[in-house]
Amino acid sequence: MRKLLVAGNWKMNGSIESAKALAAGLLNEVGDGASYDVAVFPPFVHIPAVAAQLQNSDLMWGGQNVSAHKRGAFTSEVSAEMLLELGCQMVLVGHSECREYGGENNQLVALKFKQALATGLLPVLCVGETLAQREADETESVVWSQIQAVIDLVGMESLGQGVIAYEPVWAIGTGLTATAEQAQQVHQFIRSHLSENDDIIARRMRLLYGGSCNGSNAHALFSMPDVDGGLIGGASLTVTDFMAICQQADALSNGE
Ligand code: 13P
Repeated sequence: MRKLLVAGNWKMNGSIESAKALAAGLLNEVGDGASYDVAVFPPFVHIPAVAAQLQNSDLMWGGQNVSAHKRGAFTSEVSAEMLLELGCQMVLVGHSECREYGGENNQLVALKFKQALATGLLPVLCVGETLAQREADETESVVWSQIQAVIDLVGMESLGQGVIAYEPVWAIGTGLTATAEQAQQVHQFIRSHLSENDDIIARRMRLLYGGSCNGSNAHALFSMPDVDGGLIGGASLTVTDFMAICQQADALSNGE
């Protein structure tokens, strides 16, 4: 069975002090040996403070983005090696906010995925359609082209070493969560398409849902057969809100 993963994307929020307190609070609540996995993605400059709290625990941490380049004259960028040096185990690539505001396209995101994996980080590939694309019935083609670009560059075996997060753009930060059925429909589409390439990898891969996920809708979302956890934005910023989601993951992992 795939273990549920509850991941918090803190985006551009907080301070060193608040990041430290949030990490410490989560560690205190989740503890070690949880029935589900937990990861947090703080802003780059807060990672050392978070790492100091979470080191030697089961909780994982990572960057919200990474350079496609190994090193060199790329002002403002942060390399996979640098993240690894901060103890990161994972990294987000292709978040819709980086695609939209940072102009990242499928090819660049695929290069980032490749660089992360080659350096020893687990990439979380974010995909998802805009409202206009959904209304034009383009959800599946958009999502698949975002995944296909990575397969084209690194192959199915390497894609399978990462995680995919389906985050419909219209659901991010809007309070408009996809219904559990809407999420399942896209997750099932992704998994069945993956299985046309490699059935074993398709069954093994974790597919997270993201977009206005909270303690009230997490149980319904995570109980869907192809939803393996969540990538949480707003509700990952306080221990109480994040733990309300983690508790649902725990209940489901224990068959409740
Ligand atoms: P919200 O949970 O705030 O909608 O954000 C989701 C997200 O973008 C996580 O990466």
